[in-house]
Amino acid sequence: MTKYIGILTSGGDSPGLNAAIRGVGKAALNHYGMQIIGFRDGFRGLMENRIMRLDGGELSDILTRGGTILGTSRDKPHRMPVGGKLLDMTDVIVGNYHDNHLDALVCLGGGGTQKNALRLKEKGLNVITLPKTIDNDVALTDITFGFDTALGIATDAIDRLHSTAHSHHRIIVVEIMGHRAGWLALGAGIAGGADVILIPEIPYEVASIAEAIRERSRRGKPFSIVAIAEGAISKQEHADMLTAQKKKANSKQKSGKKAEAEDAPETLYAEKTVRLAKQLELLTGLESRITILGHLQRGGIPSAADRLLATRLGTACTDLIHQGHYGVMVAAKGDGTRAVKLEEVAGKVKTVPPDHPWVLSARHVGTNMGD
Ligand code: F6P
Repeated sequence: MTKYIGILTSGGDSPGLNAAIRGVGKAALNHYGMQIIGFRDGFRGLMENRIMRLDGGELSDILTRGGTILGTSRDKPHRMPVGGKLLDMTDVIVGNYHDNHLDALVCLGGGGTQKNALRLKEKGLNVITLPKTIDNDVALTDITFGFDTALGIATDAIDRLHSTAHSHHRIIVVEIMGHRAGWLALGAGIAGGADVILIPEIPYEVASIAEAIRERSRRGKPFSIVAIAEGAISKQEHADMLTAQKKKANSKQKSGKKAEAEDAPETLYAEKTVRLAKQLELLTGLESRITILGHLQRGGIPSAADRLLATRLGTACTDLIHQGHYGVMVAAKGDGTRAVKLEEVAGKVKTVPPDHPWVLSARHVGTNMGD
């Protein structure tokens, strides 16, 4: 019997999404003789039943394209902005799934998407997810697609900043995305030879960074590149955060309310980066500048590695649908893939262990990690 698949992309876009849509779709149509439709703009499009046909030429010529042909949004089924209010639209979504006679729904997304997919699984839908995000912070997968492309862009930026920092004897603080994980800043910082790398997992001390930069000046290198993850925090901010979290947990316990983990992106990152650059200028006497890479890191064509990964995960996803194996995320595992139960991955974030081999390598080549 022909199987019917729905597919959507949710959360921030990421290079490789189109390659994954193509991988799922071409394997479904050509290899297994299934039918596939897309929903536009994430869970919102599924809720509004906005469909994109994917059975014509739509899957051709998209392998190398950035973004997502389906469009995306950060809307969640159970907290959907509708008419100025946040409403639980899960039942409408479940209804549309059945009205479209779907046998499976494929959701391409990051950490938030895994949680939303699990909620739909609990409503009885056959859901499968693929891990995408430039942040590489999805648990239980070796890597997420989008990360390699962003890593290349951020590394290229650091390379370019080196020559201008060198010419002007300046500090350049470059802010790199990654939400609350340091993978992107750490990877690009190492690959680009940043002198200082600051990640959320290792709170920093401005005095330590300034001393490392002054030491470079004493050794005849009066310029430095500081790669800072957007979520990096100082030791003081870390201590304040712990106190605030404790207070919040206590008051939630008293009021009996369940704490909901926050998926929304932060807005104050840039301010922290500007403040750090000013502090370093004062403490070192070197002029400083900032560069915020922002959404440049999510744009443009996916790298070869991301196209390969997204295609591998996409086709493996269709294999699982063929086998009737649902309720899982298709994770990357070495050269292959493995199916991880959504219950195991939802709500978890893969951060950088402070003793991770990348951190040790960075320290061994003399990089200051801010601590
Ligand atoms: O999760 C990907 C990501 O690019 C993060 O690195 C960043 O914090 C966030 O999304 C930015 O989100 P938005 O595009 O909604 O501003």
